[in-house]
Amino acid sequence: MAVITIDGKRMEVPDGRNVLDCALDAGIYIPHLCHHPDLKPLGSCRMCLVEVDGGETPVTSCNLKAKDGMNIRTDSEEIARLRMLSLELILTGHPEDCSTCPKYGSCELQTLIQYIGPKTGRLKMRIKGFRTEEENPLLVHDMNRCVLCGRCVRACQELRGVHVLDYRQKGLETYVGTVHEKLLADADCRFCGACAEVCPTGAIRDKWKEGQDHRSKQDRIVPCRYGCPAHIDIP
Ligand code: FES
Repeated sequence: MAVITIDGKRMEVPDGRNVLDCALDAGIYIPHLCHHPDLKPLGSCRMCLVEVDGGETPVTSCNLKAKDGMNIRTDSEEIARLRMLSLELILTGHPEDCSTCPKYGSCELQTLIQYIGPKTGRLKMRIKGFRTEEENPLLVHDMNRCVLCGRCVRACQELRGVHVLDYRQKGLETYVGTVHEKLLADADCRFCGACAEVCPTGAIRDKWKEGQDHRSKQDRIVPCRYGCPAHIDIP
């Protein structure tokens, strides 16, 4: 076990556990997007920045291993500045029509927008123009809403060992898809639903679950169990 301090709160945690999960379990909210507790950390969205032992350069807490004596700070001017910039960059590749998205009210990106309050209009938007795949009876893949958090890729490859989804192209052209743009059924997808389960936005959705959720948008908004005042969650 290791004794660490997060925002002045001392806690005993398993040695080597990632600091983000330690904080969340202790009721300290650190914004995060690419992290999912069932997946290996990727550290790509840079939402979960923290400062360690008074260091001036913030580091990502989802892949930061807890060590005895560590002193973590989850908020500072620099963290807020970098976090906002990262979110603004993420949003340049995401459509602004959230109110028409079926995931409205249960979207983790929406939660971050409300919590962080990014400035709008500073950066140029990138229109993706992907075709939405909804031919099959189980899943919708609307990659125009994808924020490249990589959760679906890790779920498909690491959790299920299927390797249907992967990153395609490079740089600004990067997207998540199947080989040769095949439809999921033709790409050997098992339709296990893991990609929809972990997707934080409306990019990958489970048709059956959507059909089951008859609650109004307002009913779907509940307080965060980690103390974030703006967190939206479907238990
Ligand atoms: Fe840590 Fe994305 S949650 S970098």
